[in-house]
Amino acid sequence: MGTCASKKSSSTMSEPEIKKYATTVELSSGVGQEVFELTQMAKDEPAFFVALSGGSLPKLLAGGLLEYADKIDFSKWHVFFADERYVAHDHADSNLLACRTEFLAKVPGVNPEQVYGIDISVPVEEAAKRYQAQVEKATGTSAASGSPLPRFHLVMLGMGPDGHTCSLFPGHPLLGEATKWVASISDSPKPPPQRITLTYPVLNAAANVFFLAAGASKVDIIPQTAALSNAALAELGDAALPAARVRPSSGRLVWFIDDAAGAKL
Ligand code: 6PG
Repeated sequence: MGTCASKKSSSTMSEPEIKKYATTVELSSGVGQEVFELTQMAKDEPAFFVALSGGSLPKLLAGGLLEYADKIDFSKWHVFFADERYVAHDHADSNLLACRTEFLAKVPGVNPEQVYGIDISVPVEEAAKRYQAQVEKATGTSAASGSPLPRFHLVMLGMGPDGHTCSLFPGHPLLGEATKWVASISDSPKPPPQRITLTYPVLNAAANVFFLAAGASKVDIIPQTAALSNAALAELGDAALPAARVRPSSGRLVWFIDDAAGAKL
């Protein structure tokens, strides 16, 4: 896996690209094609590191991925979760279960040992530490030594109507987490309250971040997130919504939006 040197100034961050689709079916298809293209670009690499979210994303992603099921080499995928609820892997709230049911169990080649679930046999803080250790081991990186951050090929995110992404919620102290790569949260305003989440250092070190936002509940915050320029973001600083603050320092940021969510663009 490639690695990436730490932070860059806002002037070197890519501006968000916005891709708008009339329907969620077209959105899914567009995402599938882009994921396929990324896997093609990485076809000579031994592994493809992905982080997935929950909510509406697994279903939205499934439509497009299933179209490309026989063209993508899923055996190289290492699947992490951008955030995960602190529940068993077969619990209805599990993001792993949602992704497995929607597509991981339906496409060929996925290696179950390369789908990384949360360990709920330990308290949630320890589960986050163990998850971070799994990221380090799979990607050959080390948080402890201050070595370069892991560089996921692709991080796929959703956004809540309050502007949260992963389990990074407006006003929460986790927004300032600069050391841990994976952190725990026990007071998530979106149930269930206990979760683990990737933090900004890892999200912003990714090579590609795709946001999938569909539906009218997101219409008012798209202008404050997807459509926010880097200059406007810099001016807002810590007042910016969590989803807006995902800006890869040397990667691509693409927002896939349907007409309902993008009506105020
Ligand atoms: C979770 C998610 C979360 C989600 C957003 C958007 O585990 O709850 O990962 O961050 O992506 O809440 O959810 P919707 O796509 O359902 O609006």
